[in-house]
Amino acid sequence: MSQEPNRIIVGAQWGDEGKGKLVDRLASRADVVVRYQGGANAGHTLVVEGRKTVLHLVPSGILHGDKLNVIGPGCVVDPVALLHELDGLAAVGINPTPDHLLIARQAHVILSMHQHLDRAREAAAGDAKIGTTGRGIGPAYEDLVARRGIRFGDFFDPAYLRARVEFSLQEKNVLLTSLGMSALSVDEVLAPAELAFERLRPFIGDAGAVVSKAHRDGRVLLFEGAQGTMLDVLHGTYPFVTSSSTIAAGALTSLGLGPKVVHEIIGVSKAYTTRVGSGPFPTEMVGVEAEWGERLRQAGREFGATTGRPRRCGWLDVPALRYSARINGLDSIALMKTDVLQGLGPLKLCVAYTFRGQTFDELPMTPEALVEASPVYETFEGFDADITGCRRFRDLPASVQRYVEAVEARVGIPITFLSVGPGRDENVDR
Ligand code: GDP
Ligand code: IMO
Ligand code: MG
Repeated sequence: MSQEPNRIIVGAQWGDEGKGKLVDRLASRADVVVRYQGGANAGHTLVVEGRKTVLHLVPSGILHGDKLNVIGPGCVVDPVALLHELDGLAAVGINPTPDHLLIARQAHVILSMHQHLDRAREAAAGDAKIGTTGRGIGPAYEDLVARRGIRFGDFFDPAYLRARVEFSLQEKNVLLTSLGMSALSVDEVLAPAELAFERLRPFIGDAGAVVSKAHRDGRVLLFEGAQGTMLDVLHGTYPFVTSSSTIAAGALTSLGLGPKVVHEIIGVSKAYTTRVGSGPFPTEMVGVEAEWGERLRQAGREFGATTGRPRRCGWLDVPALRYSARINGLDSIALMKTDVLQGLGPLKLCVAYTFRGQTFDELPMTPEALVEASPVYETFEGFDADITGCRRFRDLPASVQRYVEAVEARVGIPITFLSVGPGRDENVDR
């Protein structure tokens, strides 16, 4: 292909794989960067010239200045959180204009009632809680599917908007009071959102049509996934998932584009695994390995970019990546945070699972198997050298090369991008 391909970047694990860094890196080769699902549950970290930026809703092309960044129709957007994020960017001199930031008028709006309900349900669930980010994501997507949601477009008609919120609150207040919370008034729910909307108004438009036209005009598209494959509402470790379609195909339903628009799909994975919140995690370093998990957490600074919660840490799970490769149709993998494994050897790599006498080369996704299946490990020599300065594959210690090649061979798709530090340029291109 003579032109740069249209790409989807998707999390291949349970989120926080380093999608933001890769999207920032690839944005220089694209014209339009599109977030296609999720909301401010995401936390995407970019480190450019030593300065760290954490984005929650704004796409990771924003530091490039000349790109159009789109928050797609499939996203759920808290207008107050988005304004807060834009204010944070303004404080460091980034002031996107409507030429650089577009919010889909079809995107659903998260209001305080969604957040209250999210948190009240989690508090009531006790040990069965999902460990959500408390950002109102689940309740907002429920409203979308239940056809009682509020969309950005509704804010252009205040009387209609008010009626919609009134209708929604009738039911929400029954739920909230049954969970021991106080009922909410239409005014307290609506006022902060309407205030935020007044500032967001110039950025709202028909995102699907704009992206489609950009494509027809030969502009290069880059789709930025949030969360990860194993958190997909249909294909993930249900019910311990988020409420959206996090997989590559989600980009197309969100924007309303035909599948042929996309040329390349890259799955992002850490060189190990992390997970935030509850739910199965078969390669987690627990029990006798708990101390190892703690070392990895400190070395990789594995604390949530959105909630600050310590991330659960574990070994790299090849069968999970094989599952991801199939579900997303991955062309390649970007392997991130390889440097973090420094000094943590010998390295274990989960290459298969056994469950009730059978061997699986993909993570078996039934609830019983996710709890009972035993990981089968191969062990690799670790490395003690600092590899952050390496830029060519052959400069890496032989043991790192062997580990990377083993992952590639066992997952069955190439690793085309290898990250060795948080900085934009700390990469080994293959
Ligand atoms: P995302 O949600 O997938 O965008 O990932 P997060 O930003 O939540 O988490 C990834 C974290 O790892 C961020 O703090 C990044 O700055 C950092 N990071 C990304 N790539 C590397 C890498 O290769 N090495 C190290 N040490 N840190 C990295
Ligand atoms: P990025 O885009 C990691 C997890 C939560 C919880 C579950 C459901 O930064 O990779 P939700 O609030 O979405 O209803 O929570 O999903 N989760 C994430 N984990 N990275 C994320 O985003 C996540 N977004 C949600 O911890 O287990
Ligand atoms: Mg994150």
